[in-house]
Amino acid sequence: MKLRRPLRALTGDRVNLGAVRPMGTAVHAVGDPILEVESAAKWYAVKSAGTRTMALGDVDLEIAKGSFTSLLGASGCGKSTLLLLLAGLLRPSLGSVRYAGRTLDGPPAEVIYIFQQYTKSLLPWRTVLKNVALGLEARSRRQEPSDRMSRAEVRDRCMEQLYHVGLPDVAEQYPWQLSGGMQQRVALARALVCRPRVLLMDEPFSAVDAVTRGQLQDLALAVWQELGITIVFVTHDIDEAVYLSDRVVALRPVDGHVSRVSTIDIDLPRPRDQIATREMSEFLAYRRMLYPMVADVG
Ligand SMILES: Nc1ncnc2c1ncn2[C@@H]1O[C@H](COP(=O)(O)OP(=O)(O)O)[C@@H](O)[C@H]1O
Ligand SMILES: [Mg+2]
Repeated sequence: MKLRRPLRALTGDRVNLGAVRPMGTAVHAVGDPILEVESAAKWYAVKSAGTRTMALGDVDLEIAKGSFTSLLGASGCGKSTLLLLLAGLLRPSLGSVRYAGRTLDGPPAEVIYIFQQYTKSLLPWRTVLKNVALGLEARSRRQEPSDRMSRAEVRDRCMEQLYHVGLPDVAEQYPWQLSGGMQQRVALARALVCRPRVLLMDEPFSAVDAVTRGQLQDLALAVWQELGITIVFVTHDIDEAVYLSDRVVALRPVDGHVSRVSTIDIDLPRPRDQIATREMSEFLAYRRMLYPMVADVG
């Protein structure tokens, strides 16, 4: 199946910057929807105060198979909540979330969620290789003994994945011996080694310096392109969302908490380039258009 638009030269076609649509209407899609959120609301009970916090209200969203979608919004507007709903790790208080056409009642094996503070999710007493192997080990425990991978197979697959994220030489080191950017590559390798169909990433690059961040963005794009997976990426950074995505879903807080969503298709040529793409007038126009979509309107 062809999942992507054809590549065009960076100096290629002009883009249509009028492509903002309310949710729920048909827009250019890379593939059929793989994840669908329908009229979903989510509130949290705050037991100590005897109240509840409305995190999301009446959200509709479709994630196209093979697409790169960013969920963009200010802190506290419900991005992580929406991502957790997509992962099947949280259930909506109202409405539904479907994966591959079926209503989610738990996290599907093919959908891997990378937590916001994922460098902290690496186990410091395990080597890099053994951290990468964690997901495979968990899967193995759920399988019949005859279906399980051998230790050698697990090792080979983890080594291959470390090579793919640009870390062939650190397998026997410990996470705390690596830089923040390298730890994030390890976390990515740990997710990818399970061969997910969908990767959900919650503000993965927000804690690293600008150059490392650019490199990690390009790694995420390379992995996405090479493996043909679907990525949903949470960020509060407008430029990052525009640079990476086919589509940006802007979440805007209203009354301080409930989010409204609007989508904008990013028709910038691929492959993207940290300098050339960000200098394009269309790139600047997208960021100008998105700013009021994420600003608090009270
Ligand atoms: N487990 C929780 N219990 C209570 N309130 C929560 C919980 N998680 C998030 N919230 C609240 O829900 C709202 C949305 O949070 P979140 O989805 O984390 O936003 P974001 O990721 O955009 O910063 C915020 O008001 C937050 O305080
Ligand atoms: Mg968050």
